Amino acid sequence: MNATGPILDVNALSVRYGKVEALHNAAIKVRAGQIVSVIGPNGAGKSTLLNAIMGALPPTGHAKGAVVYQGEDVSAVAVEKRVSRGMCLVPEKRELFASMTVEDNLVLARTDASAWVSAIFWIRWSPCSSFFRV
Ligand SMILES: Nc1ncnc2c1ncn2[C@@H]1O[C@H](COP(=O)(O)OP(=O)(O)OP(=O)(O)O)[C@@H](O)[C@H]1O
Ligand SMILES: [Mg+2]
Repeated sequence: MNATGPILDVNALSVRYGKVEALHNAAIKVRAGQIVSVIGPNGAGKSTLLNAIMGALPPTGHAKGAVVYQGEDVSAVAVEKRVSRGMCLVPEKRELFASMTVEDNLVLARTDASAWVSAIFWIRWSPCSSFFRV
């Protein structure tokens, strides 16, 4: 990435769920220090856009287009590898760990071994463990 290049550069991103196209040719650029909001009515495709950027679509979803993060095209990179490069997605409501801080939610999926051990330990011994049936 050059000094002035965007942190995130998304181009011509489209997503289909089967025959239905949920996102058509989306483009978004985020530069260092910027906060970018995506707004739209229910069903407009906001979650689809973010999940596609993260590589975390459900199995029925298929994305095409380019997602470039810090100068690297990560379009074909697995979600866990995108996380290890520094990308993260904090989902809404029930998919958050409410008892954890915002920072802990953000770093939870980091892939160094100690973080995984901590996360598994936390899930096993927290009140949340009943949700995970562990
Ligand atoms: N897993 C899925 N399978 C099939 N269609 C889906 C799936 N997820 C979303 N869709 C469809 O894709 C379109 C975009 O949905 P999406 O959830 O991305 O919208 P949204 O803007 O996040 O909506 P909301 O404001 O309700 O969160 C909608 O027509 C929705 O019905
Ligand atoms: Mg949504």
